[in-house]
Amino acid sequence: MTTEAEAEILTRTGPGSAMGELMRQYWIPAAASGELVADGDPVRLMLLSEKLVAFRDSSGRVGVMDHRCPHRCASLFFGRNEEDGIRCVYHGWKFDVEGNCMDMANVPPAQDFKHKVKAKAYAARERAGVVWVFMGDQSNIPALPDIEATLTPDAEVNAVFIQRECSYLQSFEGSIDTSHAGFLHSDLAGRLNFDTASPDKRGDFIRQPEYEITETKCGTAYGAYHPTEDGGNYWRVAHFLFPFWTLSPTGPIDGHVAARAWVPMDDTHNMSVYFGVTRKRKAGTNRLAGGVANFTDFEPNTTDWFGRWRSAANAGNDYRIDRAKQRTESYSGIEGLILQDTMVTESMGGIADLPFEHLAPSDQMIAVTRRRMLQAADALAKSGARPPAADTPEDFFIARSGYFVAPRDANWLDAYCQRLNEARPERQIAFG
Ligand code: FES
Ligand SMILES: [Fe+2]
Repeated sequence: MTTEAEAEILTRTGPGSAMGELMRQYWIPAAASGELVADGDPVRLMLLSEKLVAFRDSSGRVGVMDHRCPHRCASLFFGRNEEDGIRCVYHGWKFDVEGNCMDMANVPPAQDFKHKVKAKAYAARERAGVVWVFMGDQSNIPALPDIEATLTPDAEVNAVFIQRECSYLQSFEGSIDTSHAGFLHSDLAGRLNFDTASPDKRGDFIRQPEYEITETKCGTAYGAYHPTEDGGNYWRVAHFLFPFWTLSPTGPIDGHVAARAWVPMDDTHNMSVYFGVTRKRKAGTNRLAGGVANFTDFEPNTTDWFGRWRSAANAGNDYRIDRAKQRTESYSGIEGLILQDTMVTESMGGIADLPFEHLAPSDQMIAVTRRRMLQAADALAKSGARPPAADTPEDFFIARSGYFVAPRDANWLDAYCQRLNEARPERQIAFG
């Protein structure tokens, strides 16, 4: 069971919090590259309870900084994005993407102290069509993580942002909770309503799977399995990656390249950022990935701190639940797995009451992952110990999720590595 004190650590990610500090050791996918236009409008970004402003300068570089002007705290969101910098409209101070003060327009030249003033800027990079931000120690910036779905050329990656009005924790835990698929995402006969076209056609089996769980160099992984009729085991392997990534096993492991970040905006809002590689997805074989990648039912984006990528079906309209369908066809009565997941996790409240829960054997992955996160946050806070893979971004490459069949007596991690090494001969992996 998760205690009150543990729940507090797991769900608080603002400045100075233990989990917030842990998250600041990693790069964070924050906005679609297309949201920022050279010399275009600045964008409000809420990340880890910090109010930031993002802009693209005349040269195409991205700046992400505290939205408060370091002069007298007016918001740079209202600034002028002009000639390689953003200019505060209160007294005309201007800053480049690194936060350097380029001009102190209301101060006579003899008294100018612009070299002593810096806006609080964070490192930003672009990869896979997404702007990434590093909010930790700006003098010690790691490389971007080798998460496979973000490594392919931009044109092959489909990045999808969807906001959820609840804690990042309960959101991502839905993605490592495999047994819910046979209920929430199924029809009344227990067949997954997204998986029937898969080559394995095993969408109806997984209501009571057995599990193996392991810690990895970059997070945790589980294998959910059941015996096949021909003497093997059918495995679904999935990963949690520090600090907030999940890889769901929604396709055959040989070609299923996808990852999803659950980025805390504040403690009761998160942005899921889905990276899926379109190149390897064959028509009809992976409708779950398609479900995320094709989600388009958004409210129009606004400039509000929480105005980006909100689902049009939401708590305010009960996610458009169809009670007649719920009686006759679908388990939930809600259309599509994105909304089904959104509904259950938001229905827990802004921050779920973790001590109120009764975790079951089917929740082992959640329990192990929480423990690992708590240990890592505690070690960082107490001794400055570097959290998993924070300094070794190449370690993330071991992770891919998907399903496969292996001989009954095969070790699941050996079988996993073998399948993956066959699929990716150019870069071999091993556990342990
Ligand atoms: S508050 Fe920004 S220039 Fe004065
Ligand atoms: Fe789900």
